[in-house]
Amino acid sequence: MYAITGASGKLGRLALQHLLTLVPAEQIIATTRNSQALEDLAAKGVVVRRADFSEPATLSDAFAGATRLLIISTDTIGQRVEQHKAAIEAAKHAGVQHITYTSAPDAATDAPHPVQQEHAYTEIALAESGLAWTALRNSYYAELLTDILPTLRVGNELLVPEGHVKPAWIARDDCARSAAFVLAGKSDLSGPHDLTGPEALGFADLAQRWSQLSGHTITPIIESDQELTARLVAKGLPEQAATGTIGLLAWFTRNGETRVTNVVEQITGSKAVPVDVQLRSLD
Ligand SMILES: NC(=O)c1ccc[n+]([C@@H]2O[C@H](COP(=O)([O-])OP(=O)(O)OC[C@H]3O[C@@H](n4cnc5c(N)ncnc54)[C@H](OP(=O)(O)O)[C@@H]3O)[C@@H](O)[C@H]2O)c1
Repeated sequence: MYAITGASGKLGRLALQHLLTLVPAEQIIATTRNSQALEDLAAKGVVVRRADFSEPATLSDAFAGATRLLIISTDTIGQRVEQHKAAIEAAKHAGVQHITYTSAPDAATDAPHPVQQEHAYTEIALAESGLAWTALRNSYYAELLTDILPTLRVGNELLVPEGHVKPAWIARDDCARSAAFVLAGKSDLSGPHDLTGPEALGFADLAQRWSQLSGHTITPIIESDQELTARLVAKGLPEQAATGTIGLLAWFTRNGETRVTNVVEQITGSKAVPVDVQLRSLD
């Protein structure tokens, strides 16, 4: 049996769809805090069970019978190490033999950001569990750009943050497809691996690509954080939202290293899709 946690989330649902192409529905256990959200999959024969990492008592029943498990990292920053450790411990007791985990780029216990630290501590817990494991360090979702780029656009200019790192944006569906393949035992990659999109693109590169695809020129203007915040506020963004956006941009472009891998293709046999798919959906 192949189990997925967080199966009603965006990544979880996509991973389930891919898993259904790889193994019979009856061999899939989909766990979630909200079983009602998966009624359509239960109707297809998927075994749906309730699991909440913050309620460890729910986990042993949820994972019973599973031999391979995909743990989708939760979104509750600050609680994740404890939550993920509870899931790993319960999986071990349930007889799970292999865990796939959705990690993040540059996970390290001494990383500057708590998010990367939490992923690093989870990877350590996996290594110490004695189980076989694979951590897919998912690069930043390309889907995030469909919100961020319009926010940064002022007329025909794109406000670009300072920073040397060029993220290799990855489609969420490529993360899901890769996770499903590893969960299904179609890949023997073990330990941590950077899962990235096909190209590293900073915001100036994105302005250029957006121009090519849209047919109108979008000029990148590099701004300091202070200038960027002021321009976003002048554009009408509340100050708090502007500050949040700048924090996110700093995280993308001044944190860790630029890396592009072909791990999606290694795992699934087909290439990761380019960010153009998302850029084409913009004006
Ligand atoms: N690479 C990136 O750019 C990026 C960006 C944002 C987040 N992430 C990470 O990737 C994960 C999946 O992304 P997404 O787009 O699918 O996010 P999402 O739709 O917001 O999903 C959040 C996920 O967290 C699970 N979750 C939350 N609390 C939980 C708990 N107490 N116990 C068990 N599961 C819990 C949810 O499961 P149920 O609701 O089904 O219980 C759901 O799968 C996120 O949770 C986050 O760790 C990555």
